[in-house]
Amino acid sequence: MARLLDVLREQIGLTGTKEGCGEGECGACSVIVNGELVNSCLVPVLQVAGCEIVTVEGLAEMESCTPCSRRSRKRAARNAESARPE
Ligand code: FES
Repeated sequence: MARLLDVLREQIGLTGTKEGCGEGECGACSVIVNGELVNSCLVPVLQVAGCEIVTVEGLAEMESCTPCSRRSRKRAARNAESARPE
């Protein structure tokens, strides 16, 4: 049976989800299924039929990434401030 990881990468083309260990140890294949973080290398694709799946590509577009974006913007602002000529 196909793994969720393989379907995401090979059939859908979402290659941001990586295969590392392939044994559920490294987390390189992590995706969010119905709000739960799972290792997609361990999940048969049929098990998630009808579920909401968010990959790293989706995280980049989500509002929930706002705290990360805020930190990045603050860091960029600090860097810009320190680089400003006096
Ligand atoms: S590839 Fe390492 S946990 Fe899935």
